[in-house]
Amino acid sequence: MNAHDSERIKGMLEELGLGEAPELEQADVMVFNTCTIREKAESRLAAHLGLAKTLKDADPERLLAVGGCFAEVRRERLFEQYPQVDFAFGPGSIAALGEWLAAERNGGASGSFGTGAERRFAAELPARRERPFQAWVQISMGCNSVCSYCIVPTVRGKQMSRSPGEILAEVGRLAGDGVREITLLGQNVNSYGRDLPVDERFGFAELLRACDRVEGIERIRFTSPHPKDFRDDVIAAMAECDSVCEHAHLPAQSGSSRILKTMRRTYDRERFLALAADMRAAIPDLALTTDLIAGFPGETDEDFEQTLSLVEEVGFDGAYTFVYSPRYSTEAASLPSQVPEEVKRERIERLIELVQSVAEKKNRSRIGSIEQVLVEGSSRTDPSLLRGRTRRNTTVNFAGAARAGELANVRVEDATSTTLRGAQVVPSPA
Ligand code: 5AD
Ligand code: SF4
Repeated sequence: MNAHDSERIKGMLEELGLGEAPELEQADVMVFNTCTIREKAESRLAAHLGLAKTLKDADPERLLAVGGCFAEVRRERLFEQYPQVDFAFGPGSIAALGEWLAAERNGGASGSFGTGAERRFAAELPARRERPFQAWVQISMGCNSVCSYCIVPTVRGKQMSRSPGEILAEVGRLAGDGVREITLLGQNVNSYGRDLPVDERFGFAELLRACDRVEGIERIRFTSPHPKDFRDDVIAAMAECDSVCEHAHLPAQSGSSRILKTMRRTYDRERFLALAADMRAAIPDLALTTDLIAGFPGETDEDFEQTLSLVEEVGFDGAYTFVYSPRYSTEAASLPSQVPEEVKRERIERLIELVQSVAEKKNRSRIGSIEQVLVEGSSRTDPSLLRGRTRRNTTVNFAGAARAGELANVRVEDATSTTLRGAQVVPSPA
């Protein structure tokens, strides 16, 4: 979601005539879009703002703005902590940055924190996309869940779904612009539409089907679904829609039903396993990836073992793994029995090792198969190879002659835990 918001910030600044500087040192307006989901994001920001301060000291005409979730959660205190900041804005008020900059040019703006009267979808702003053939499509903002570790509902507010008409108009425009792959974005995509007015009710399954009908869109992805809301109608839509990719990122967070309960995830291990099995039964070749947290308060060795065994039992194709990080004003931050740092470290290392070995096994099982790859550019490590992603969302480096934005058929020859390697087989679909 932050990557999407950053694209909108860039697009808005470009409309104001501000092009992207190649280096921070050369920018006369410095904008940081921040995250606050874990403490690490905040410590990185401190370093960036330190550099920005040095640049501002050398040239006080430079403007410094800080947006995103950290700005939202700190609000006015941000200016006490970082007096070098000229303007701050939350994730629901990106447009306020544009208004402030425009006013600043007309002889000085007033105010230092932009909120705007109402939250607005970042998607209403122009975007500057990283690649011409791929696009994020925001379908909702905010989240109605109350996961006890998570700060997102505090900073991004309650769920608000975008109207299906607006979403589909955007998808149509994108297709006309040459976009072939879209990723539908929301904090909990499967609860999409539940807050729409009754006469406009439209669910996530219907949205998938409607996007699938848009000519030119060949791949549809979405992130992230909440397992509690993953219903059969969505599984059926995934199975039936040709453009919907055979991949679901399904955050499990923990494999222990006891911990899932204190996390307030509202499903248990058995339900998660049943969901994964139902999805796999309906969607052949489905790739499943997940998010996992190690060291949640009260997590015992036994609970943690359950997370390890979940990874093996589901056979995740990949996982983002996180050390639990206490966040301001969340329920879990004030739970007793916080897990000591060294235990968290030890657990995350074991978890990463297992995730990698399971993912490598899964990837190796693809050796010999032919995968459809959307070419994204050249390989990051070997410029003589191309790089792209399969429908199952695995990165492939391969020898071939396709251009970025094209689909290529690639025979898989080798695999690591995160990437495949192969060679293009000709002919490929256009
Ligand atoms: N500590 C660690 N990980 C967290 N996440 C969310 N909040 C926290 C936290 N306080 C993880 C969850 C979520 C992902 C986006 O970030 O796994 O799915
Ligand atoms: Fe956070 Fe839970 Fe909402 Fe995801 S579903 S954004 S983890 S509160």
